[in-house]
Amino acid sequence: MTKTVTAKAHTNIALVKYWGKKDANLMLPQNGSISLTLDHFYTQTSVSFDQPGATDQIYFDDQLMPAEKADRIIKFLDLVRAQSGLTATATVKTWNHVPTSAGLASSASGFAALAGAASRASGLNLDDRALSRLARRGSGSATRSIFGGFVEWHAGHDDASSYAEPLQDPVDWDIQMIAVVLKATQKPISSTAGMARVVATSPYYPAWVTTANQDLVRMRQAIADRDFNQLGQIAETNAMRMHALNLSAEPAFNYFNADTLTAIQTVENLRADGINCYYTLDAGPNVKIICQSHDTTAIKTALQAHFKAEQLIVAQPGPGMTITENN
Ligand code: DP6
Repeated sequence: MTKTVTAKAHTNIALVKYWGKKDANLMLPQNGSISLTLDHFYTQTSVSFDQPGATDQIYFDDQLMPAEKADRIIKFLDLVRAQSGLTATATVKTWNHVPTSAGLASSASGFAALAGAASRASGLNLDDRALSRLARRGSGSATRSIFGGFVEWHAGHDDASSYAEPLQDPVDWDIQMIAVVLKATQKPISSTAGMARVVATSPYYPAWVTTANQDLVRMRQAIADRDFNQLGQIAETNAMRMHALNLSAEPAFNYFNADTLTAIQTVENLRADGINCYYTLDAGPNVKIICQSHDTTAIKTALQAHFKAEQLIVAQPGPGMTITENN
């Protein structure tokens, strides 16, 4: 009898970034990374290996995905079939719970939820570390979304040694993020393509790996000490170094638009006025502001001089991936 398994995974934002692979097939990163899983944004995915047909059927927000767009998901299901020995094709239904066009729908929550649902539906019963390794094969950042709270992905040197672990979950102190949701104004370069170009062409790449490894040590300590300012400073510097790699690639590229710079400037002005907040950015124009709850109102008020209230989403630390089975 085929069973349908549903998994829910939350997205995560890296505080020390993953930006470059040393093995694209195994999805091994050049450096380890540390993230915070968020409660507000998540993906829910149901899988059953029940298709008599030759192809997997993938539905995204209730729409059947054309085969060429579903390619990465089908390759991932092939890995699950290889691990489980199953040959049937699957029905996959996935829903992204993010505000419409937020641009925060990340492959992190998507492949973490798919790893959980597909592995269990195939009959595999993987522990969290094995799930993290499996999710990694779909998208690097998904490695971390198996876990809640603060999470570290150990770079490793082979399939078995590259996995994530919780550093602190639940998070028992006051830290949150305000996502400033901005309209994309340029054709995006995917994170996969962007980081590959950077590794191949940026003369600064070796310095990135060295400093990212130093950031990991300092970030672990900041989290253990619950030191908000230290954490924010390391995260902000690390993010800007990642974006500096993009500016130093050949050809150069960047993810910023004018609104991105306005949001960054607002954070810097707030800080000059004595409000502790820091920013981080990923492979898109949105800015995530790391802050504490007693400053949320002041930060939102300052941002609302430039952005609408609905562009500002406050997210708290979120939980790890969960699986439910229904026959
Ligand atoms: C900037 O995980 O999306 O968000 O492994 O190629 O799927 P692939 O890339 P992806 O890259 C995420 C990059 C980042 C930083 C991070 O999450 O660590």
